[in-house]
Amino acid sequence: AAIPVIAIDGPTASGKGTVAQRVAQTLGFHYLDSGALYRIVGLACLRSHVDFSDMAAVTAHAIAIAPRFVCGRVLLGDEDISKEIRTEEVGTAASLAAQIPSVRDALFELQRRERRQPGLVADGRDMGSVIFPDACLKVFLTASVETRARRRYKQLIEKGIDVKLDALVSEMAERDRRDMQRTHAPLVPAEGAKILDSSCLTIQETVVKILHWYDQVS
Ligand code: C5P
Repeated sequence: AAIPVIAIDGPTASGKGTVAQRVAQTLGFHYLDSGALYRIVGLACLRSHVDFSDMAAVTAHAIAIAPRFVCGRVLLGDEDISKEIRTEEVGTAASLAAQIPSVRDALFELQRRERRQPGLVADGRDMGSVIFPDACLKVFLTASVETRARRRYKQLIEKGIDVKLDALVSEMAERDRRDMQRTHAPLVPAEGAKILDSSCLTIQETVVKILHWYDQVS
């Protein structure tokens, strides 16, 4: 039988990351944070001052990255960049890089390779639509803009990253708009995806809901 995949897609700060990790932990599945890959490309471009309109140069970075995920840490070479890739600046750079089709192509296999026994929980924007179209469960996780901004704000402050709430709201809105309007793999609910609005749910309630859906299909 095919290795089971649970695809969890949705806009910025919808809680995908935390929820996906807990679902994976509960089931003993692997976890793919696909956004981290785009963030690594974004960071590499920022560091080398690549212009995001220079598609060939951005793509070269996407092809060159050999990121590793070790115990929840993101490594680029030997450097731990787990914290640095979480800033909004890198998020914006990631979404600029993510618009380029050849960048998405360069990351395609890297993501598919994560599908290993006993199963995978994958979070991103196109997990259910492009990368794992045969996922046994597809969830589109959303929340109101206010809820998402508040969550992201709290998360960044806890990580010791300094931000302003109003700047955060506009950066998030801009990034979501870009992700939804791009021509290649835009952020849309995949066919057959279950839409889950987590605005009024706790993390645990959201996790339980997804595990319940998974029970029904597995
Ligand atoms: O999920 P996260 O905020 O880490 O993603 C950063 C950016 O990477 C997103 O705004 C989006 O542009 C891009 N991305 C994507 N496809 C994915 C995951 C992330 O285009 N599967």
